[in-house]
Amino acid sequence: MPKRNRDAPSLVYASAAHDPSLCERLREAGWSVGLVGSAHELERALRHATAPSVGLLELGDEQSGAQFGPQSGPGSIVEHCLNAPQVHWIAAVTTNQLRRAATRELIGCYCLDYVFLPYAFDVVESALRRALRLASLVRGVPYAPPLSGDQAMIGRSEPMLAMQREIQKVAYTQAPLFIAGESGSGKELTARAVHDASSRANGPFIAINCCAIPPTLVQSELFGHERGAFTDAERRKIGHIEAANGGTLFLDEIGDLPLECQATLLRFAQDGTIQRLGSDVSIPLDVRIISATHVDLEAAVSGQSFRFDLYHRLCVLRIDVPPLRTRGADIHLLAFHLLGLYAGERKSRIHGFTPSALRAMLLHDWPGNVRELANRVRRAIVMADGAYIRTVDLGLVEPPARRALTLADARDEAERNCLLSALLAHGNRSNDVAEELDISRITLYRLRMRHGLQDIAGLMPPDLSERRK
Ligand SMILES: Nc1ncnc2c1ncn2[C@@H]1O[C@H](COP(=O)(O)OP(=O)(O)OP(=O)(O)O)[C@@H](O)[C@H]1O
Ligand SMILES: [Mg+2]
Repeated sequence: MPKRNRDAPSLVYASAAHDPSLCERLREAGWSVGLVGSAHELERALRHATAPSVGLLELGDEQSGAQFGPQSGPGSIVEHCLNAPQVHWIAAVTTNQLRRAATRELIGCYCLDYVFLPYAFDVVESALRRALRLASLVRGVPYAPPLSGDQAMIGRSEPMLAMQREIQKVAYTQAPLFIAGESGSGKELTARAVHDASSRANGPFIAINCCAIPPTLVQSELFGHERGAFTDAERRKIGHIEAANGGTLFLDEIGDLPLECQATLLRFAQDGTIQRLGSDVSIPLDVRIISATHVDLEAAVSGQSFRFDLYHRLCVLRIDVPPLRTRGADIHLLAFHLLGLYAGERKSRIHGFTPSALRAMLLHDWPGNVRELANRVRRAIVMADGAYIRTVDLGLVEPPARRALTLADARDEAERNCLLSALLAHGNRSNDVAEELDISRITLYRLRMRHGLQDIAGLMPPDLSERRK
């Protein structure tokens, strides 16, 4: 019976067929190993209070012929693994798999390192230990299981993780929140995420697009009206603000709200009451306002098309949704997620994207952000002839041919990343870095020269630079 150690570092081992002797040796070496073979099991493992920060992911055998391994593609265990925030993945591959550019690209984008199958225990163990050390540097992000379907907020890039932390913080307060971000970047999704994480989650979430309502109707749509308030008012109508009572009112494109409505909205933002058109009774409401716009609201205030006092009432808290082009490998996670959503609709034969399509996505500027990506993927599913979506199917520019990443290049990159993390973690102190990496100071010196890391002062946060002096 292996010894149980409650403090053992935990590790998630994702595989179609777990190697029993590897599991046994890892447990003997002090790891608490969680075996997962499906997205559901992965979710369960990550929900645990001491969720693993390190994972070993077998990409599967090559007979599958799939670009990313046997269980890859939309909704696969591979996709779920790579979309799990906080887990540092070590990929396990065969030498044949590594000959495929797509496999190398996948590992390069999403994994910290890789090891070969069949396993050499010492190599696996030391890769996992290194991943554990790096994981301990990263500030913890609570694991929130993604919602299903089109409500899921996909992303584990640093800007998205930072935004998810902000969402959790602002959800706890009742103060008005303003969400800024480029068109199609996910402002409404963010507003919903705040609502769902708040104490109002069981109340209504009412979203209104201020520029979609004709200016003459805005007042009655927002505040409601009494019977006979105007010629066509045949019966009483509850407005959107009142309908949001006990929940959240999301005012999208707030910058387009006509000035006369801004004055009425200001009254509600100040004292929390409304009056229906044609009535002088004030109705107190319990509504949290979240507003958003893709226009520069500060500029609208300067140009006097938006009231200064309303701006200050609405923008107490602020979240900036990062543009898609700054989210790195999230673009691929999103592309697979969207492929899963839309390909599912049509029982599609499409399994994934070609390596050059994936590269083209990283190079594109995405002015229309996630909505543009969704549209391109949707169109590509229709246009693609084969099992994999090509750059042309996405309507993107073919990326320049890239020199293939050799095994030596990949190792070199992993070595540099590991070295840099240790240097930053220890404020550049050679003794500590050498001890952590289990190498001599001479080897450390040689490695720093090779990777051009002799002087990293400019990369360090100020307090660490100070300690170095
Ligand atoms: N991180 C994400 N993960 C998954 N889907 C996303 C994400 N961000 C945005 N989407 C999807 O992209 C589409 C656009 O998102 P949303 O409507 O929230 O953007 P927006 O910023 O409000 O856009 P607009 O500026 O046009 O109002 C939606 O279908 C949404 O579900
Ligand atoms: Mg919107």
